[in-house]
Amino acid sequence: MKILYASSEIHPLIKAGGLGDVGGSLPKALKNQHIDIRLIMPFYQDALVHTAGFEVVSTLKISHFDEPIRLWEGRLPGSPIKMWLVEAPSLFQRPGGPYGDTQGNEWPDNPQRFAIFSKVVVEVALNRAQVNWQPDLVHCNDWQTGLVPALLHFEQSRPACLFTIHNLAYQGLCSQTVFQSLHLPPQLWAIEAMEFYGKFSLLKGGIVFADRVNTVSPNYAREITTPEFGCGLETLLQQRGGNLEGILNGADYQVWDPRHDVFITKTYNSKTIKDKIINKTALQEYFGLPQNENTLLFGSVGRLVHQKGIDLLVKAIPQIISQDVQFIILGSGQKEDGQILTELSHQYPQKIKIHLGYHESLAHKIEAGADAFVMPSRFEPCGLNQLYSLRYGAIPIIHAVGGLADTVVDANENNLNDHTATGIVFHQASADSLSAALLRCWRLFQDTKTWRKLIQNAMRQDFSWKQSAKAYIQLYEKTLAKEKTANGEEIGVEVHVN
Ligand code: ADP
Ligand code: GLC
Repeated sequence: MKILYASSEIHPLIKAGGLGDVGGSLPKALKNQHIDIRLIMPFYQDALVHTAGFEVVSTLKISHFDEPIRLWEGRLPGSPIKMWLVEAPSLFQRPGGPYGDTQGNEWPDNPQRFAIFSKVVVEVALNRAQVNWQPDLVHCNDWQTGLVPALLHFEQSRPACLFTIHNLAYQGLCSQTVFQSLHLPPQLWAIEAMEFYGKFSLLKGGIVFADRVNTVSPNYAREITTPEFGCGLETLLQQRGGNLEGILNGADYQVWDPRHDVFITKTYNSKTIKDKIINKTALQEYFGLPQNENTLLFGSVGRLVHQKGIDLLVKAIPQIISQDVQFIILGSGQKEDGQILTELSHQYPQKIKIHLGYHESLAHKIEAGADAFVMPSRFEPCGLNQLYSLRYGAIPIIHAVGGLADTVVDANENNLNDHTATGIVFHQASADSLSAALLRCWRLFQDTKTWRKLIQNAMRQDFSWKQSAKAYIQLYEKTLAKEKTANGEEIGVEVHVN
């Protein structure tokens, strides 16, 4: 089975969030299952340091785009997996992350950038890019590749297409004027195709035209068929019916495991939990906090966006701050959230520390040093940080949504007694509900024996990619089977073109 995996983020080349983690680890797990998988991603300026050994293998011309596009070929660092980088300097040769500048401001031409990227993916998918390789299936991820299934739909003979939704809230919307500048088949501007309330939705292209659609946890797959989580696409998603499933992400324990993490002060495992204290005091020292192992240290790492509920945390903190607690927060994204967090840390300099920006090694240090890890997400398609927290024995405190609810078991009395508890679960996206959970955590922390058991349960959990990779292979098989019987014509939702 030959798979072309298209993503706008692939760790370690580039990463803004979990999409990058998945792009860097699921393909490795699939390769271990003997799948011939190759990756394709834009050639961002910031990825350059990871491209030793890459070379140009072809130059393409995309119609209505002046610049010749060069395809670089190399290997995903640390693996034998072949990957292609799409070099279009006017689109991707910019300092910063995949979607914005170093200050976190989004590039205004993101729809154009990823539309061109998608057109190149289509050329590779149809073996028209002089790389002499024909995939059986293209695996697209999120709105940045949503145009790929749509464009493939117009081809007589095409590979099958799977579209994975990592986050429905990001839709790649643009105006009709921008749509016209993209030089796409005009039929795509239709409600049955990619028009969405007067805009053009790149995400909708994936949902409407891919042979199959999946998302990154079973719970989120259910949630997005409801108005509360469906972002206006719930009816369309309901229509996909059995074609929409959830496969839980895995954690890459080669990268995220305290037994061999190169970024942390002292490695440890579930039998040497006392060594976690060394990481805790090192973290407290790094941030200039009082070094006290009996103080409950809460950690948090994430993108500063509405989804992650950092505003709830800001409101909940004053309700617990009189206890012997500390908070360390690493956040990248919206400046306003960053400012509010900074103000809070100035208010409680001995208890709250903030690091703004993207900082890979610090994220590992926080997982290793924190006693508990706070994730008050309003919605969370899967979430990877809670999986890492479990492995690092940083007890996850989570809002029961999406993949968080699928992976963390609440430390209520029953679950504690039968040793299934792994974290603290709360049920309302409110500051009060969160602060009650923080307080519950604090009480548990005072009971050393119970707390230790909870850490052991958490660290024992296994969310490695193996099972999920097998589920993806089954899904690939189903997608291919359907595509074959349909002779390349049928799609999940009926769309009329021409
Ligand atoms: P999302 O993909 O919605 O951001 P996930 O929990 O799936 O959420 O994945 C987030 C990933 O990004 C984790 O690997 C996390 O450590 C990382 N991350 C998020 N923000 C930062 C940051 N500011 N610095 C370093 N790593 C970060
Ligand atoms: C998205 C989601 C996150 C998920 C990640 C990887 O960014 O917000 O929940 O874990 O994608 O699938």
